[in-house]
Amino acid sequence: MPSHSGIFTVIERAARKAAPRLRRDFNEVQHLQVSRKGPADFVSMADKRAEETLVDELRRARPDWSILAEEGGEIAGDPNKPRFIIDPLDGTSNFLHGIPHFAISIAVEEPMANGKREITTALVYQPLTDESFWAEKGKGAWLQDARLRVSSRRDLADALIATGIPFLGHGNFTQWSRIFGAVAPEVAGIRRLGSAALDLAWVAAGRFDGFWESDLQPWDVAAGMLLVKEAGGFVTDFRGGDRTMERNEFLAANDVLHSKLHKLIAGALR
Ligand code: IPD
Ligand code: CA
Ligand code: CA
Repeated sequence: MPSHSGIFTVIERAARKAAPRLRRDFNEVQHLQVSRKGPADFVSMADKRAEETLVDELRRARPDWSILAEEGGEIAGDPNKPRFIIDPLDGTSNFLHGIPHFAISIAVEEPMANGKREITTALVYQPLTDESFWAEKGKGAWLQDARLRVSSRRDLADALIATGIPFLGHGNFTQWSRIFGAVAPEVAGIRRLGSAALDLAWVAAGRFDGFWESDLQPWDVAAGMLLVKEAGGFVTDFRGGDRTMERNEFLAANDVLHSKLHKLIAGALR
């Protein structure tokens, strides 16, 4: 295993600091009698508390870096320095319903010499299982100290594919249904587990063979995309290009399945 960079140590420490409270809050939500304000408010408090802990820890370690966080938005820092991109709780609906599948996602985005910005460090941390999916650019993707590789399956017929299904107020139902109609009959199964960050981490780990979703935010995918790439996979938009964020389309898989899925999706959207 390569040695961790200083910055990875910072983000992992922050995630581990926020995790115990999230675990306690999750247990509480499972046993929650309907309180005066209801579980949804309780969960949004848990979300905010986790974000506060993360922001405090990250700001203390790197006071002049910007932070883009789901709840608090952009906290401006030195524009020439890196930026943290954080989702304190990815899988909120699961959390709210007592379903044990959610994660903290933290990425570091650095300014490059060419003026672009790139994700260079990623952590998707699952507080209930203590699984730490992490990657640093050029150092591979890891689960704890085990190297991750995307799956080596080549046949759609063997592939288990994750997706995110549009829901009330989110996403494009027609587009999703078309893609689903093209992909589902060809593959071994489709899953909607409710955390895009973990979906991508699980593609990196070879648990899922592929993933597609649209209408996601940078904090949902910043860490997961680096995990997939460092595990030897591809993440593109639905046209196979690299404008994932601009087009808000994400297709991830190993090289062979990526090109097969891409063909199905292109056909469905024609
Ligand atoms: C959500 C999850 C989900 C995806 C949604 C996201 P949240 O994030 O990643 O899988 O389908 O679009 O908003 O709200 O649980 O942080
Ligand atoms: Ca999210
Ligand atoms: Ca969230």
